[in-house]
Amino acid sequence: ILSMLVLMLGVVVGLSGCTSNKSVLKVGSDISYPPFEYVDEKTGEFMGFDIDLIRALGKEMGYEVEIINAAWEGIIPGLINGNYDLIISAMTITDERAQAVNFSDPYFTAGQVIVVRKDNEEIKEPADLKGKVVTVQIGTTGQFAAEKIEGIKEIKKFNTTPEALQELRNGSADAAVVDLAVGELYVKEHPDAKIVGKPFTVEYYGIAVKKGNEKLLKEVNKALATLKANGKYDEIYEKWFSS
Ligand code: ARG
Repeated sequence: ILSMLVLMLGVVVGLSGCTSNKSVLKVGSDISYPPFEYVDEKTGEFMGFDIDLIRALGKEMGYEVEIINAAWEGIIPGLINGNYDLIISAMTITDERAQAVNFSDPYFTAGQVIVVRKDNEEIKEPADLKGKVVTVQIGTTGQFAAEKIEGIKEIKKFNTTPEALQELRNGSADAAVVDLAVGELYVKEHPDAKIVGKPFTVEYYGIAVKKGNEKLLKEVNKALATLKANGKYDEIYEKWFSS
């Protein structure tokens, strides 16, 4: 019996030795938002600027990072429920969201742009959306920005941004309102679409933690400052946004 106990103990110690004893940082993201977060078609892996950034931040903070694909609409409730420790999802820091979660220092500058079909010569700026059908991802700053434009005929809301852009290509809408870097990649990959005008909002992305999780927020901000100072942030930025 004793030797069996020793053997079992050995197995347990051996097994736990195999797995890392770093604590796990669970990260929620709506992984349908290239180039910030998307699923690689071939490998099924999660890729993108945010994914690289959070992996680098996790490493800097001494955590193992586990990324959880979460639907955008429930992403903040999921954080509050404890499904994950933080959100990185190209999420704009807004006053309204800041009442529900705490945001890190900004890590990216964005703004809303209008995407139309290539042959559209009518829409050049937000005021031209009067009487038009516009698509957005539901619950995004794209939706909030569109709602402020007067006279839009209909705002069609989709669960993901790719669906909102697809509707435009289908011809079932006149324009889509999306974040700049997302629109830029989209028109690069879909030459039948174009961005018109300049970004008409200024927004900053932040990493969200559960309200009151000061400890984690401090760790995130400290690691973010380190990566900005040591060139790692720039390296990731170049990888996704050069050219
Ligand atoms: N920046 C916009 C917002 O915060 C859109 C973000 C959408 N992100 C995503 N992963 N789907 O509302």
